[in-house]
Amino acid sequence: MSRQAKAVVCREWGQPLHVETITVDPPKRGEVTIKVAACGVCHSDHSAATGKIPYAPPLVLGHEAAGIVVEVGEGVTTLKEGDYVVSTFITMCGKCRNCVRGRPVLCENARKSMTTLPDGTVRTHGKDGEDLNVFGACGVMAEYATLHVDNCVQIDGDVPMSSAALVGCAVITGVGSVFNTAELEPGSRAAVFGIGGVGLNAIQGCVTAGAEMVIAVDTNASKLEMAKEFGATHTVNISEVEDVSKAIKKLSGGGVDYAFECVGNGKVVEQAFKSLGRAGTVVVVGVADSKDKTSITTLALPADERTIKGSWLGSARPQYDFPRILNLYKANRLKLDELVTQTYRIDQAQQAFDDMLAGKNARGVIIFE
Ligand code: APR
Ligand code: ZN
Repeated sequence: MSRQAKAVVCREWGQPLHVETITVDPPKRGEVTIKVAACGVCHSDHSAATGKIPYAPPLVLGHEAAGIVVEVGEGVTTLKEGDYVVSTFITMCGKCRNCVRGRPVLCENARKSMTTLPDGTVRTHGKDGEDLNVFGACGVMAEYATLHVDNCVQIDGDVPMSSAALVGCAVITGVGSVFNTAELEPGSRAAVFGIGGVGLNAIQGCVTAGAEMVIAVDTNASKLEMAKEFGATHTVNISEVEDVSKAIKKLSGGGVDYAFECVGNGKVVEQAFKSLGRAGTVVVVGVADSKDKTSITTLALPADERTIKGSWLGSARPQYDFPRILNLYKANRLKLDELVTQTYRIDQAQQAFDDMLAGKNARGVIIFE
């Protein structure tokens, strides 16, 4: 059946967000409708709402949610009513070259449908019946959402939904950059630049993977305090040191094995590269502006055998990684509840984005009844 749902909609880039009542169509073949329980407020939603990520409005925001399946479409065998799921904006077709070689975040077919469901159409409409695009085949900052099963990962229902929601983006991006992209070995020395929702998760990923030293780097002292709670062994406040790379080299006795760039800025990539020891690796997680460039000393690549790698959504295989992360949480090896600094009702969405931009939250989460 069709459902009415309150949703956060971007009507025009750079304008205040609207909370509207939209119509959500029932699931077609291979799709499910979920009742959303919680949806994280991510920087990328804001980037789409300002046009930095050029997703065309009108656009229903939200890609980091947990909820319960309330209706299944024809041909759906893997999910049933009452199942709990986390959304993923990575649609993996399972057939293209990148999917079959185990790199579903790079699925060639997913790129074609970043603001619609995988078939190129939407199930969301405004009050005049007009189509509303959806962020990353999700659009889950809404009371209900119809998604393709490939954009849902089933989870156990015995975890708080606000914590589970964050696994879909912030947690997998940070933790996955350590587990999957870097494949960090126990005993490694690491530095994490930029302690937002993503950087905090890179820190705890390093701790869980057995890093001996985790140096947190930020410009904001309160973020460095949070970093310690997530297991950072050392902190460097950029505004208090003359040369951040030298400070890291000193702390780590010659440079770190892994430096995670969680800001999205070529200058920070350069600082991260300079902080490496021999055979060190920079993992670039932050998403820079498309015109941003970085500069490195070319000779250091062969002479020190250094590496620069990029990490998109933590090189995730969502169907494997989301349950894996939730199991580590249940075993007290990863913190999720502590990431939820503040919860909001959907009518407070604008406040949630303002608080994020003011750096108040590890993560803000919109909670639905
Ligand atoms: N050096 C170090 N830290 C910095 C710098 C800098 N030059 N500039 C900003 N920061 C810090 C901020 O103080 C903040 O703590 O980086 C952090 C960014 O945090 P958030 O705004 O919460 O961003 P987050 O959601 O963690 O995303 C970080 O990863 O996935 C990408 O698109 C995302 O590019 C973004 C990045
Ligand atoms: Zn996100």
